[in-house]
Amino acid sequence: MQQDKVSQIAGWAGLEGLSFIPIKPITQSNRSNQTDRLIYTSPQPLDSKSLLVLELVVLELANIQMSTYIAALTDLHRGLDRKGPGDSNFSRHILSNLSTLPLKPRIADLGCGSGASALLLAQHYQSPVMAVDASSVFIAELKARAKQLGLEHLIIPIQGDMAKLDWPVGSVDLLWSEGAAYNLGFEQALTIWRPLLAAGGIAVISELSWFTDNLPEPAITYWQNAYPMMGTEVENIDRANRSGFSVLSTHRLPSQAWWVNYYQPLRERMQQIEITPSTQLVIRETEEEMGLFEKFSDLYGYTFYVLQAA
Ligand SMILES: C[S@@+](CC[C@H](N)C(=O)[O-])C[C@H]1O[C@@H](n2cnc3c(N)ncnc32)[C@H](O)[C@@H]1O
Repeated sequence: MQQDKVSQIAGWAGLEGLSFIPIKPITQSNRSNQTDRLIYTSPQPLDSKSLLVLELVVLELANIQMSTYIAALTDLHRGLDRKGPGDSNFSRHILSNLSTLPLKPRIADLGCGSGASALLLAQHYQSPVMAVDASSVFIAELKARAKQLGLEHLIIPIQGDMAKLDWPVGSVDLLWSEGAAYNLGFEQALTIWRPLLAAGGIAVISELSWFTDNLPEPAITYWQNAYPMMGTEVENIDRANRSGFSVLSTHRLPSQAWWVNYYQPLRERMQQIEITPSTQLVIRETEEEMGLFEKFSDLYGYTFYVLQAA
């Protein structure tokens, strides 16, 4: 199917007989370098115009592979309350220590998934929450859950890119983001989001972090491929300071929360999902991630960074 579409495009451009060989399938870990994963063979020498078209064809193929991969990842998480590790009581504990916010803060949850934190924040503050996610599937789930909980009037679901919000400067008092900043890179996310915060506004961002400088080989190898920008807590504190925040506190999500609230429901979902080559790939990756966490959860995990606009 993918090859058909690409051959069709190549055919229109007069590039007959090209074939494309994925070096390795696009996965969560290598998705930032999609086009490096594809090579082509051609029966004819290619002039510069053909090479240009070829670039576009390769990009198109990479995009098709990517969207198939994201669709499988979304399908695996369909119906789960949490799309990443987190815990409501842990979040409430953090909230109970945020004393400097207005009574009815203007709240945003970025990369909200189906609303694990957006719903909790709306309930906690009885104040509207702008809940942003790229996935239409997750936004639809969020709307249904908000309705079920009688919180529809407080949830503003926005399907969009959290890196491209055109909100006014200083329009958010509390910016929350769980397990999502890594999609932009922690420092990049903080730099983009900082102008949205009102003076003295608070950001609570969870980020996968190393708890030690002394990293064991299998964990380094895995995360260097999966998330090369992953930093230690000290590095992330520096990144936050560089992005215009002061760090009020940090809190490590207990490993138990990963298992009970995220991995166990995900395991059950793996039993139900229709198996296709792409879901199989996503399941294999997830199992590898779980296996690593089982061994090394003392050495890395999600740290919640409580930040204040400096
Ligand atoms: C690991 S999930 C966490 C979801 C939710 N915060 C939770 O804890 O259940 C990461 C979320 O980020 C979303 N996402 C990734 N890139 C995004 C982007 N550029 N803009 C908006 N959402 C994005 C994904 O669709 C996904 O729902």
